[in-house]
Amino acid sequence: MTKDFVHITDFTTDEILATLDLAQEVKRRFHDRETFRPFAGQSLAMIFAKPSARTRVSFETGFTWMGGHALYLGPADIGIGKREAVKDIARVFSRYNDLIMARLFEHHHMGELAEHATIPVVNGLTDYNHPCQIMADILTVREHRGHLDDLKIVYVGDGNNVVHSWLRLAARLPIHFVCACPEGFEPDPETVALATGAAGSQVEVVHDLNSAVYEADVIYTDVWASMGQKKEAEERAAIFKTFQVNEAVMEKTGKETLFMHCLPAERGREVTDGVMEAPYSIVFDEAENRMHAQNAIMLMLAGLN
Ligand code: CP
Ligand code: NVA
Repeated sequence: MTKDFVHITDFTTDEILATLDLAQEVKRRFHDRETFRPFAGQSLAMIFAKPSARTRVSFETGFTWMGGHALYLGPADIGIGKREAVKDIARVFSRYNDLIMARLFEHHHMGELAEHATIPVVNGLTDYNHPCQIMADILTVREHRGHLDDLKIVYVGDGNNVVHSWLRLAARLPIHFVCACPEGFEPDPETVALATGAAGSQVEVVHDLNSAVYEADVIYTDVWASMGQKKEAEERAAIFKTFQVNEAVMEKTGKETLFMHCLPAERGREVTDGVMEAPYSIVFDEAENRMHAQNAIMLMLAGLN
């Protein structure tokens, strides 16, 4: 078992499936505030170099529910990689805490943090990936469909950090994953290559949205300008405008299709209000499952499964 959760591919296929089962179990027990306290007396340091609503609240709430104490360190607190070397923070926090969760800009900093920390490190998003999100997403898909067989996920938009984690999931579980993006906004080719032909998955990167969504079980989107790219928002909006997930796109699949978004959503840009509010939108189940999936990931890393 890996010490850290930096990539979905740090877990084997069996460990991913065990984590999803455990997430389901801890979700069922979430009403139990008295007896389930596996992290009693332990502390989780949460390092945020970027903003967050879901990641902060779900980790803090989940770890507290499991009997532990979570500390929030915001963008102004550490200056990780700037005010202080990543490897120094890794060793200092390893002396105080039992786990670290971090949201960072540069992905190589996450690797450095994991390498130098003697305690588990969980990746809460970098410029490259967002593994906790996709664990929650696949948990949500499984809940709604009842199984993961013959699953076609069509991601529409920027080939970004969320896509890289979907691709790494495809390297472990058999899915048909399609990224429909404008030319020049494709995901990292090495990550596409890693997922291509792996685990019985089918992976496609395409530029024609209309044909891509045919027979999709899930249409998924994310913001067109990620954190760190907000200066480019207007320029990107012009490039991405034909990649909006609207009611017409949802109708082109030819079957019942779920809509997902990691949130926060910019309504009226990458997705319409109508799609966000439609009965097929499962974005709030997805947001809720962040907490249950992450609780399971922390339990797996701590050997408390
Ligand atoms: N989806 C997600 O990670 O949300 P936050 O940026 O609010 O944490
Ligand atoms: N791609 C988005 C995801 C936010 C959860 C970002 O990095 O801003």
